[in-house]
Amino acid sequence: MSDTRPVADLNPLEAAAELARLAKLIATADAAYYQDDAPDLADADYDALRRRNAEIEAAFPGLVRADSPSRRVGATPAQGFAKVRHAVPMLSLDNAFSDEDLAEFLASVRRFLKLPESEPLPLVAEPKIDGLSFSARYENRQFVRGVTRGDGAEGEDVTANLRTVAGLPRALPADAPEVLEVRGEVYISKDGFAALNRAQADAGEKTFANPRNAAAGSLRQKDANVTARRPLSAFAYAWGEVSQLSWDSHWGFLARLAEWGFPVNPRNRRCATTAEAVAAFAELDRERARLPYDIDGVVYKVDRLDWQQRLGFVSRAPRWAIARKFAAEQARTVVEAIDIQVGRTGALTPVARLSPVTVGGVVVSNATLHNADEIRRKDVRIGDTVIVQRAGDVIPQVVAVVTAERPAVTTPFVFPETCPVCGSHAENDDDGVIIRCTGGLTCPAQAVERLKHFVSRDAMNVDGLGDKAVEEFFGLGWVKRPSDLFSLKRRLDGGEISFAGRKGWAGTSIANLFAAIDARRSVPLARLIFALGIRHIGETTAKALAQLYRDLPSWVAAMRRLAAGDEAARAELTDRDGLGDAAADALAEFFAEAHNTDELARLADEIAAEPYAEAAVRASAFSGKTMVFTGTLERMSRNEAKARAESLGAKVASSVSAKTDFLVVGADAGSKAKKAAELGVKTLSEDEFLALCDAAV
Ligand code: IVH
Repeated sequence: MSDTRPVADLNPLEAAAELARLAKLIATADAAYYQDDAPDLADADYDALRRRNAEIEAAFPGLVRADSPSRRVGATPAQGFAKVRHAVPMLSLDNAFSDEDLAEFLASVRRFLKLPESEPLPLVAEPKIDGLSFSARYENRQFVRGVTRGDGAEGEDVTANLRTVAGLPRALPADAPEVLEVRGEVYISKDGFAALNRAQADAGEKTFANPRNAAAGSLRQKDANVTARRPLSAFAYAWGEVSQLSWDSHWGFLARLAEWGFPVNPRNRRCATTAEAVAAFAELDRERARLPYDIDGVVYKVDRLDWQQRLGFVSRAPRWAIARKFAAEQARTVVEAIDIQVGRTGALTPVARLSPVTVGGVVVSNATLHNADEIRRKDVRIGDTVIVQRAGDVIPQVVAVVTAERPAVTTPFVFPETCPVCGSHAENDDDGVIIRCTGGLTCPAQAVERLKHFVSRDAMNVDGLGDKAVEEFFGLGWVKRPSDLFSLKRRLDGGEISFAGRKGWAGTSIANLFAAIDARRSVPLARLIFALGIRHIGETTAKALAQLYRDLPSWVAAMRRLAAGDEAARAELTDRDGLGDAAADALAEFFAEAHNTDELARLADEIAAEPYAEAAVRASAFSGKTMVFTGTLERMSRNEAKARAESLGAKVASSVSAKTDFLVVGADAGSKAKKAAELGVKTLSEDEFLALCDAAV
């Protein structure tokens, strides 16, 4: 099975080929072992492959592959944890990459809250731990459940595993609330990571690429006894559901956490001024290398709780917090080739294939070159030495060419005029920057990318159906469009298709696949709309559409009218805050194509779209009403007023029409107030609006 030529006899080309072969063999063996519980290699053979891989890598460190088995996360985390819905969603954070970004964040907080410059805006600055987040639930002061973040709405039940994490209390003192969800980060220290990898290597087991992967792999073990032996630690920094709030600031909350026995980072700082906030970042940046654990930035949080509550959140990130990331790490390497990737919407994206290089602890062998303009501007050529950088989980980028090291003969890169996958003509987009394949769904690359998007976590979230399986099913002709997924089981039962002899598909993985598909036969309308992958229809827009049209038949009917050029249908859409002409054009284009509407009809036969449900909206005078705001408000910004109205179930529109239920009128209102008077629309002053908000149950 393994090539027996001594490593010393290999030249670099042969070594690279051998490493590629080994990576593939080991990955296949791992999948059989871990995912299907069906090892296809004897242990001794498997160990021999890994040893040979390690020997070649030691002799040719420059050839270590990004997908090398020596760098992969250990035992693929187990599947099959029970799913738990978070009582309060686990949010993520927006990023700031510079002092300017931070200043803009602070300015937007001030605008939203209408705070004058003279009003202090205290913040808490916390190290951003590079681990994975958890939620620990306590009932009657006893630890009852541990859950991973998952997609933010739903995570995995890791109660037994979280119980083994050092420092997390099992029980809380008498003054803790009856129900308390504490959130934070599980991580492995740098020393713990080194020791774990040594132990793994000694035992002939897989080593981990970095502490974050080690922490993730350790927490998601089927057997909690394995987790218990891993050096996991935790810091607490947020809360979810809580029966009683006994703090009015984030800093106060951190103090309570410490009293109750939670591990709280001693490097958290309360910053009274912006200058202090900036200094806290500089201090952590300086100390970063000496800290016993990895951090990737600083999280700033508005300290005052009443302000946090007013700021609320947008999409999935709070308006009251931001993550300031450390400067990207850079490295030099050589461009071996420039490939063109075809995306979901046909955009052709050039990608630099690089000699593998370690940047910020991760091996990078690809970097995006964005578009034709970018390649031209930077004049990136095959053979060039380039500087690449990586910031956080952002895709690696080529920053610049080191022209002094350009080989004697190179040629400027010529962007193709046809799609490299389907050969269709490629043309410039309206904005002139993006070059798109005109093949539409006849282009296999576009079709596959759309399928991947359809099943992805933020879209239909078909758990366990990864990119590879999508490609496999597409290649076999089993799944050419989304609706095919839902008829797969029938075709299997009918004998039309068969998994027999397909590598990686054993009894349990097939059963898991169909369970995952069936679990998504009913999804919220917004998810379905987003999953269709229509241009300009992101998650937020999809939500706005679902809120406006409520159910699938009404949405489809309205979109068909829109596509037919119905002005009223277009006005209804563009009038809605957050939906504009770009969305309207894209939707019209999508619904004008019979193959799209046919596919939607097929999908509707297979699955149900749950009508839009207001997210825990309180009953109020504004539930289901259409509201418009005009003029300058005194006590809050226009955005805060809109956010409050929406949280009370209102739809906010941008112009007054016969369908408007309320117009909230601030100072110096103009034509909208006049129009409302003409149409007999009820107007509210700012005080009346706020009184009705406060009266909501
Ligand atoms: S606060 C609404 N604080 O960073 C509050 N997050 O990029 C949301 N993280 O998902 C999180 N250290 O996993 C917060 N001190 C800290 C953090 C922290 C690390 C992680 C967390 C979150 C991610 C967002």
